[in-house]
Amino acid sequence: MAPRTVDLRSDTLTHPTDAMREAMAKAPVGDDVYAEDPTVNELQEMAAELMGKEAALLVPTGTMGNLTAILAHCERGAEILVGDEAHIYVYEAGGASALGGVAYHVIPNAPNGELPIPALQRAVRPIDQHAARTSLICIENTHNRCGGAVLSLQYLADLKKFADSRGLPVHMDGARVFNAAAALDVHISEIAKHVTTIQFCLSKGLAAPIGSMVAGPKDFIEKVHRWRKMLGGGMRQAGVIAAPGMLALTDMTKRLHEDHENATLLAEGLSKIDGIVIDKATVHSNIVLFVLAPSDLSEDEFLVGLKQQHVRMIQFGPRTIRAVTHWQISEGDIRASIDAVAAVVQQGRSSGIISAMKHIGLLSNGYGNGRPASITKV
Ligand SMILES: Cc1ncc(COP(=O)(O)O)c(C=O)c1O
Repeated sequence: MAPRTVDLRSDTLTHPTDAMREAMAKAPVGDDVYAEDPTVNELQEMAAELMGKEAALLVPTGTMGNLTAILAHCERGAEILVGDEAHIYVYEAGGASALGGVAYHVIPNAPNGELPIPALQRAVRPIDQHAARTSLICIENTHNRCGGAVLSLQYLADLKKFADSRGLPVHMDGARVFNAAAALDVHISEIAKHVTTIQFCLSKGLAAPIGSMVAGPKDFIEKVHRWRKMLGGGMRQAGVIAAPGMLALTDMTKRLHEDHENATLLAEGLSKIDGIVIDKATVHSNIVLFVLAPSDLSEDEFLVGLKQQHVRMIQFGPRTIRAVTHWQISEGDIRASIDAVAAVVQQGRSSGIISAMKHIGLLSNGYGNGRPASITKV
């Protein structure tokens, strides 16, 4: 039997649990476009209550959740303040601009994922006929491209104070916000209370196969609902999606600390390997970013070598590699991954392995497609 691959490329790779599959099979369903799917209605009520918001809506993806939220907040010609490393800006195909006529005013993210408040202060436009109307601040928590950084409650409180003083709503891309709550050991509403609206994913570390939720004030959710319809996101018997979504919220949120412990274990192990550069103090959730020290071993060679050892990770920038832990990754898998990284880095030192891999074509299988890795990540 082929050895199992330890796949650390993303927590989006998680499969639904057996309980989720069973719940899908048994879910009472109806036509959700008629608002008659009882399971969807229950999930939406549960999500709104958890977040401490008036209402919530199920959408197929995090991208649609963020897009519908931005479109609901903004008029055409508006501008949003968003981080240069934000998923909304980097990976969502410019949707708010293409579909809503909304401009992205990009602020450099601090390494800890924050949008520094002084930078936001400078970025808010005056109310003036020449200026785009600053209409929304978008933050991300945990922050994917900032290595799973968790925004502190103090920062969120300060941001809210600033946003309120300027009359600006704050939208949180909380694709992994339950990881933030687990890392801070707080109820999710303690995070959500600082933002006007939030999008969070059921389908990442929470293991549901499909689905994200948008939560916020009732009139905002009505607008999101209309945009969802316009984008073709009105779903019919979506109870089969909502049923595992409820288990994601009730069961899977409780175990995220295990993923964080495994991420810390991985970071500790990697930090002992000569040839790997990592600041293990920056690992706070389930994402680990590390750097390949300067050597002849290219990113592609490293990743292909790792795949040969039945471990998968992805490139996340020049010489930067990302590994993400989740419910299908055990402590044993982490130990095996550390050994695999050590072996590949060691092999990289003996150039024979690399030239042999090049010779038999193992290094031309499409990891790199000639574009910057930061763009090719999914
Ligand atoms: C931070 C963040 N926001 C939003 C999304 C988008 O989610 P989806 O892939 O469901 O569109 C992702 C997906 O990886 C993400 O990491």
